[in-house]
Amino acid sequence: MNKLFAANWKMHKTAAEARQTAADLVALVSGRLKPGREVLILPPFTALAPVAAGLGGAAGFLLGAQNFYPQQQGAFTGEVSPGMLLDAGARFALTGHSERRHVLGESDALVGEKTAFGLASGLCVILCVGEKEGERKAGELLAVLERQMRAGLQGVPKDIAPERLALAYEPVWAIGTGLVAGPKEILEAHAIVRRILVEIFGPSASAMRILYGGSVKPDNASEIIALDNVDGVLVGGASLKADEFSRIVLA
Ligand code: 13P
Repeated sequence: MNKLFAANWKMHKTAAEARQTAADLVALVSGRLKPGREVLILPPFTALAPVAAGLGGAAGFLLGAQNFYPQQQGAFTGEVSPGMLLDAGARFALTGHSERRHVLGESDALVGEKTAFGLASGLCVILCVGEKEGERKAGELLAVLERQMRAGLQGVPKDIAPERLALAYEPVWAIGTGLVAGPKEILEAHAIVRRILVEIFGPSASAMRILYGGSVKPDNASEIIALDNVDGVLVGGASLKADEFSRIVLA
């Protein structure tokens, strides 16, 4: 499976800025991407079409969304459906990002509903999991990952194609803080995630991607991406500038 370098732009960039950043990134990376790598851009909804235009169908680049609601249409003011995302050119979407869990109040059950619904609708889904600082200090890493994964994957068919489902381990204490988890912490958490995936999905889970996210930068990306069970990175702040993100993608 290709290693996935995902840019989560969160609530940043106008349509024009997003299109330009995408075009700049293609110019910096095209022809230099190592074999076995692909790049995923996750802009805000309003910038999906502009980013699709900026990418211009460049080889190795994919488009996705940060969120969706688990219904195809209806009276859900402010929400966007998987069908609308597919229509806008997105092929991937995140579920369970820590900001949606802890800022927007999404429950484990809702995250599970969204993950199953997104996959059933034809999206590839990246389910994000990770512990808060207090949970880690209390020795609850394993319990948190078990709980978030069991609930988050509850409705997913056991025979889901492994390239359509990825996990992202993002320790909440490492997001936007500059505190990156060390190799030992990443190896430990990713091994837990892999074990639970195999328990749920069987041998096909060895081909599912597990991304690491949390203060990934150009100077730590190559070390992180080389670790066992790390099949990509999910990058926030350092993905906003084409030059900085290109150095991660090319690391
Ligand atoms: P930072 O890279 O800014 O720490 O954000 C990580 C993240 O939340 C990606 O989804």
